[in-house]
Amino acid sequence: MSERTLVLVKPDGVARGLVGEVIARIERKGLKLAALELRTADRATAEQHYAEHDGKSFYGDLVDFITGGPLVALVVEGVRAVPAFRQLAGGTDPVEKATPGTIRGDFGTEVQYNLVHGSDSAESAEREIKIWFPNL
Ligand code: PPS
Repeated sequence: MSERTLVLVKPDGVARGLVGEVIARIERKGLKLAALELRTADRATAEQHYAEHDGKSFYGDLVDFITGGPLVALVVEGVRAVPAFRQLAGGTDPVEKATPGTIRGDFGTEVQYNLVHGSDSAESAEREIKIWFPNL
């Protein structure tokens, strides 16, 4: 069943020139791009996006990081797009969890600088798409 997911190439991924690499992997998987924007997120957007993590020890660092430079926000669609992109991304910690062959496993070293975000469920995806692309 076709569904949508919200992907962010985080500021570290943009700074390292990995936008094309991420998009190539999405397209090679057979997923389609439905929206794409390069922007620097303001704090209100970042706080809404990461609202479920408010109160966790890393929350402040995460909001600072995600607003610290340009990122690329994408809406990706296709069959089982949510788990399909999470498989491409790999586990949250690029060394402890992500395996080689995944984006984080191939390019990441630290949990904060893990290059990409992908929605964790179809419900989260629709909530996040409204935050980043309210007119879609
Ligand atoms: S949790 O607590 O299990 O729900 O957290 P998790 O799903 O592993 O991670 C949620 C997002 O927080 C980021 N994260 C961190 N950022 C900075 N520092 C530390 N220590 C840290 N730990 C987790 C993690 O990359 C997730 O971001 P997204 O964008 O959702 O992948």
